Amino acid sequence: MLKIVVCVSGGGTNLQAIIDGVARGSIVNTKIVKVISNNQGAYALTRARDAGIEAVCVSPKDYENRADFNQAFIQEIGKDEPDLIVLAGFLVTLPAELIRSYGNRIINIHPSLIPSFCGTGYYGLKVHEAALARGVKITGATVHFVDEGMDTGPIIMQKAVAVKEEDTPETLQKRVMEEAEWLILPWCINLIAGGKVKVEQGRVLISE
Ligand code: GRF
Repeated sequence: MLKIVVCVSGGGTNLQAIIDGVARGSIVNTKIVKVISNNQGAYALTRARDAGIEAVCVSPKDYENRADFNQAFIQEIGKDEPDLIVLAGFLVTLPAELIRSYGNRIINIHPSLIPSFCGTGYYGLKVHEAALARGVKITGATVHFVDEGMDTGPIIMQKAVAVKEEDTPETLQKRVMEEAEWLILPWCINLIAGGKVKVEQGRVLISE
């Protein structure tokens, strides 16, 4: 059984896709043991509780300094000894110590085809604004392992989404979620739960 902790900051539609995938059986052999948010008001926490999953808030705002927050966050994660940490719209930089101790056991979903429109400052609608400003015809989403860089870890899966001439950042964000994010994040978790994903020399290999 793959024990996962999901970290969220906002609405939690990606979290919902994971919850639904586990319930429907499209994600097998997986249990969401906890959902952690940095934001007490995140609707994602309600989604978790509605599904009977423990949901907690650990916010940098509640600690005097970053080191204290990092320690509290690491402690909260450690309680459950998860096999995998899933960042599903989590807007807080993870403690480097956590990334080191969970090598290739943390994944993130990013709403573009990495290496386009990623790295510092590219989050939320800004990603889609930048894609439209550049005039790309294809965008999409990427699931990748998390390393100490910003969106630089090994890529597990990507899915392309066509950009339409009439797209606004909002319509593009919605389509990237519907056509890419909500599909590939659950799919990747299922592959990891099935022991089908390995990393060799910085590249991900997926076995059938
Ligand atoms: C998604 O676009 C995800 O790719 C990004 O943050 C957003 C989270 O949305 N990292 P939600 O909270 O899952 O609805």
